[in-house]
Amino acid sequence: MRFVVFEGLDGSGKSSLMSTLEQELRSKKIQVLKTREPGGTPLGDEIRELILRSHGQAPTPRTELLLYEASRSQHVDLVIRPHLEKNFWVLCDRFTASSIAFQAGGREIAEEWVEKLNRFATQDLTPDLTVLLDLSVQESQRRRQKRESFSGKVADRMESEADHFHQKVRRSFLDQAHKNPHQWLILDASLELGILTAQLQNHLKGLQWLP
Ligand code: TYD
Repeated sequence: MRFVVFEGLDGSGKSSLMSTLEQELRSKKIQVLKTREPGGTPLGDEIRELILRSHGQAPTPRTELLLYEASRSQHVDLVIRPHLEKNFWVLCDRFTASSIAFQAGGREIAEEWVEKLNRFATQDLTPDLTVLLDLSVQESQRRRQKRESFSGKVADRMESEADHFHQKVRRSFLDQAHKNPHQWLILDASLELGILTAQLQNHLKGLQWLP
């Protein structure tokens, strides 16, 4: 059983890499759950809608942080921990590091507050590994615009933030990864999916998590 989180700017390819790892684990008959934040539970999915929609009045940074943490505590208690206890691998699209990156890095809430609330929401559950798909802000915007013109999906409230905000988010992810090199793996998200998949598999084999 392992708890692996995927982080990065929007458009960094988290979901594609998560799907290839999920398939790999299933092919080895390992039980796996793929989930995401905000969301992952019915209540969490409703909170996700509330946070990402543009209302007449945007939530203040503290309100926004509390909503992400509310979604997280529900998710940890009702989905993540029970699956880890049943020996599943849990692959999660974003977790506590996103709150540090977006709400502390981007919105400039004091990091110690975000850390405290992360600990409260998770009751100290931490990922075994966080995979950072590092991408430049420019490339993230380019991929997002491409996706939007292809699918007709419009940018959500977080995606609509200025480049400067996303620069701070990227810097925070890199700082967190450099501070905890044993719990993080940094991948260059501009590389092809096949290469990223191989790099991740090699890392997991090196940790002796995969046969
Ligand atoms: P994500 O699911 O990656 O968005 P999408 O499905 O559009 O790719 O994440 C939703 C947004 O929420 C994303 O912009 C990052 C942001 N976020 C935070 O600001 N703080 C958090 O704690 C989390 C989990 C996400």
